[in-house]
Amino acid sequence: MLEAISELKERAIAELSQIKDLEKLEAIRVKYLGKKGELTQILRGMGKLSPEERPRVGQAANRAREELEAALQVARRHLLEAEKERRLKEESLDVTLPGRPLPRGYRHPLSRVLAELKDIFVGLGFAVAEGPEVETDYYNFTALNLPPEHPARDMQDSFYITPNVLLRTHTSPVQVRVMEAMRPHLPIRIIAPGKVYRRDDDATHSPMFHQVEGLLVDRRVTFGDLKGILMAFLRQFFGSGVGVRFRPSYFPFTEPSAEVDISCVMCRGRGCRVCKQSGWLEILGSGMVHPAVLEMAGYDPEEVSGFAFGLGVERLAMLKYGIDDLRLFFENDLRFLSQF
Ligand code: DAH
Repeated sequence: MLEAISELKERAIAELSQIKDLEKLEAIRVKYLGKKGELTQILRGMGKLSPEERPRVGQAANRAREELEAALQVARRHLLEAEKERRLKEESLDVTLPGRPLPRGYRHPLSRVLAELKDIFVGLGFAVAEGPEVETDYYNFTALNLPPEHPARDMQDSFYITPNVLLRTHTSPVQVRVMEAMRPHLPIRIIAPGKVYRRDDDATHSPMFHQVEGLLVDRRVTFGDLKGILMAFLRQFFGSGVGVRFRPSYFPFTEPSAEVDISCVMCRGRGCRVCKQSGWLEILGSGMVHPAVLEMAGYDPEEVSGFAFGLGVERLAMLKYGIDDLRLFFENDLRFLSQF
């Protein structure tokens, strides 16, 4: 019996020395010390022993159990330590490694130009107004002195939603909406940036583009005020050396009307491909608000006057940054966008 106990102990310890994981360790514990374990069986069978044998076998078996338990403990600690070591190695973190670079984002060139335009006009005392992109025929055309059947409507063929509702072809309807909303408050001094839509699509036209509208209405507003504001704006935007000229033009909603040119930013007025050898670039439309427009919005043209202007944001951005194809703005090509 005593031999069987020591043999069992040796065997258990030999098995323990081979194990590599906690599962195996548990299996060995169950095999020897579990309810049906080998050593447990021996202890259970003690009753059958003679009274002389009993204490010695009992003692040996108990000592064997204590030793086994101790050996299991040690083996468990070793396994846990080895496991910890392994994980530390595996999950080690080299804090001296350089970080992974996060690609830097860029503002879209149009957003930059829009922000700059707002900045300049806010600095000149203008507030920023907005209007709907889905607009009624009345605000987009009629209230701007473009009644149904007016031939100038054809220049702005648009996307109709119903016969009386369309995607706005310009930001000018915001003029009327603001005048109606502010009446009778004076002065009105706003810019209205936003998207506009036209049935156009080529290297210099896209079906959606951006405009900034400007409107100033007050008593005794003159064409000189219009010139002063536009000159101040163009010099801030393009630099103080930029040449500016006003050319008579026609818009149904202004009278008189003027188109504004700047000296060509590519050749500084000497003449090149971009300005078609003229030295000038057309940059915006403007004029004194037509009396009929004031009247339809509820103002007395004998008492108040105003000026308005409208400019294309893409065009300004193209000139400022020397971009030669409008479509680049909308292709989302990072090689293009990351240059700004
Ligand atoms: N709405 C015109 C267009 O889209 C631009 C324009 C011209 C706006 C003259 C104005 C203006 O306010 O006075 O072609």
